[in-house]
Amino acid sequence: MRLIAYTGKGGVGKSVISSVTGLRSAQLGYRTLVMSSDPSHTLSDVFEVPVGGDETRVNENLWVVHIDPVEEGMKHYATLMDYVVELFKARDVDETIAYELANFPGSTGAAALLKAFEYQSKGTFQVIVMDMVPSGEALRLLYMPFLISRFSRRIMRLISPAARLGKMIEPMTGIPAPTSEIIDKQVELLEMMDKVRGMLINFETTSLRLVMNPDNFSIANAKRTYMQSSLYGVNTDLAIINKLMPQEVQDPYFKKWKEIQRIYTNQVKADLAPLPVKTVPLYAEELQGMEGLKRAAQDLFGDEDPTKVYHQGQPLKLVQKENGLEMIVAAKLAKKEGLQVERIGDELIVHLKTESGNVKILTPLPAITFKYSLKGAKLINGNLHVMFGE
Ligand SMILES: Nc1ncnc2c1ncn2[C@@H]1O[C@H](COP(=O)(O)OP(=O)(O)OP(=O)(O)O)[C@@H](O)[C@H]1O
Ligand SMILES: [Mg+2]
Repeated sequence: MRLIAYTGKGGVGKSVISSVTGLRSAQLGYRTLVMSSDPSHTLSDVFEVPVGGDETRVNENLWVVHIDPVEEGMKHYATLMDYVVELFKARDVDETIAYELANFPGSTGAAALLKAFEYQSKGTFQVIVMDMVPSGEALRLLYMPFLISRFSRRIMRLISPAARLGKMIEPMTGIPAPTSEIIDKQVELLEMMDKVRGMLINFETTSLRLVMNPDNFSIANAKRTYMQSSLYGVNTDLAIINKLMPQEVQDPYFKKWKEIQRIYTNQVKADLAPLPVKTVPLYAEELQGMEGLKRAAQDLFGDEDPTKVYHQGQPLKLVQKENGLEMIVAAKLAKKEGLQVERIGDELIVHLKTESGNVKILTPLPAITFKYSLKGAKLINGNLHVMFGE
């Protein structure tokens, strides 16, 4: 199975591009599901059919589903949550607060991934295209399996001594003993989280795709996502700049817009290289309905199979050193001379000379570098090594 997840800032076009991808994938004969947990039910508008919690068939090979993350989450965590609430209540914590405390961090976000994993296990679909919530959240979401297993293991430690002593200590301590059902659930969740993580970090199965518009905010957001997903071990295989003002727009009012967008597009390509970057024009009307989707599929993918893995790579690697940290960034086209690095806020700016002129690369820095200062950089075998130290 292929899991393709589109992410990006609010309104950039994640839902329509997920739908475009799903439609083309289905046309190529893959049993395809487009899945969204977007609360605004955009898929209904895009496909112009009612979409709910059960898979709706749109055509021969295409299904769409709208999952309710709270409901999905509860399927997995309810039993555990109830138990943790009982634990807190036994210590005189108010019930409402107990539920807040017992809530897994971001559990609703992780629900979409669990659902994708369920589909994978059942093997019903060959391709799942996921329309993810805006990036910041989405990344927490990718990281969720790690967080939840950690959180879960902590509860496990809380549970096991009580489980051993069982009902014996309950009257003495007033702490409710976990039932075997609770322990089973806990183990089940942990095992599943490990498998979800396995699915996410498998480069052949899962691809993250960045959607942005030619504006500073959504570009910065996409780059940050790219950096973070790389750290989490998730492969990003494609970036898409959507809603580019077409050349045929000749109105002088948009002249400056077109020029800025051209500059941004080139900059994104340079910054994200070797990650492939595709573009989609801003259409004369809102992108929706089958005809609109088919046209966009042609503009975006041409004759390609959109389910292929467009790129595999780890754009950024961090290596802990004795007295600091080394960050390794791919920079294949760079020449040794003229290399300069500077740090402005939480971004690293690299000035490089390449065959095709001077390039400036902006890379968001991972939080772990904040406690160090920038020491220098060098090029080794097409990789830029940036040193941070005390
Ligand atoms: N290339 C395009 N040309 C014209 N309209 C577009 C294009 N791409 C997207 N749109 C329109 O922009 C709007 C936002 O698109 P979409 O809902 O897919 O964004 P989103 O990233 O999923 O938003 P949200 O973050 O709210 O879920 C929709 O009305 C869609 O039809
Ligand atoms: Mg959406």
